[in-house]
Amino acid sequence: MIEIKNISKSFSMGQYSIEALREFSMEIKEGELIAITGSSGVGKSTLMHIIGGLERPSAGEVMFRGKNIYGFNSAELDRYRNGNVGFVFQFHYLLDDFTALENVTIPALLAGKDKKEAQARAGELLETVGLKERVAHYPKELSGGEQQRVAVARALMNNPTIIMADEPTGNLDRSNSLAVQELLFNLKNTGISVVIVTHDTELSERCDRIIKLEKV
Ligand SMILES: Nc1ncnc2c1ncn2[C@@H]1O[C@H](COP(=O)(O)OP(=O)(O)O)[C@@H](O)[C@H]1O
Ligand SMILES: [Mg+2]
Repeated sequence: MIEIKNISKSFSMGQYSIEALREFSMEIKEGELIAITGSSGVGKSTLMHIIGGLERPSAGEVMFRGKNIYGFNSAELDRYRNGNVGFVFQFHYLLDDFTALENVTIPALLAGKDKKEAQARAGELLETVGLKERVAHYPKELSGGEQQRVAVARALMNNPTIIMADEPTGNLDRSNSLAVQELLFNLKNTGISVVIVTHDTELSERCDRIIKLEKV
């Protein structure tokens, strides 16, 4: 479904250049759960951003259903990102001034969907992640684990093809971490592919595949 072909990424920092990835390739099949591991600074987040359409590689291609997403114009790339990719980061990045329900609804509104329908779906998703009683809460009124569950609901809002989760449990205690893990593993039967960056071996060993990034 997604084929990452010979991706390289360098960041130019004035006269220096930092090479984050070199000719990296992998394939993501439909419904597959993949763990990405590797020490700090090996390029895990950079890879996630590139697959998710957030960061253009210096070389190489990301083929989504046969088309290179970096050959898209910016409107097409936005559509790829909004319509197919759900992001969950280590820090939730919820908007402070919006309730849990509003935060989950936003991706659908950005995609031009009907507000009433979007809110109904957001309510269902929040119920799925066990936050039925928290829909009207603001992020600061939620625990870290609850905030991260809202972030998972938000990532699911537009029926993504793939979820990119970058250390989604890195900031949580064990019981919250397990709750978020369960949400991600429950996606297995839905056909959604999930790529999880994690240092947690218990989590990575439950995935279909582990890809270890090495320093270039
Ligand atoms: N926007 C950026 N500008 C410059 N260097 C960056 C940028 N993003 C990442 N890097 C560098 O690229 C390398 C890989 O970073 P990153 O993908 O965040 O690693 P990881 O997620 O595995 O810890 C690091 O050396 C980092 O400093
Ligand atoms: Mg990272």
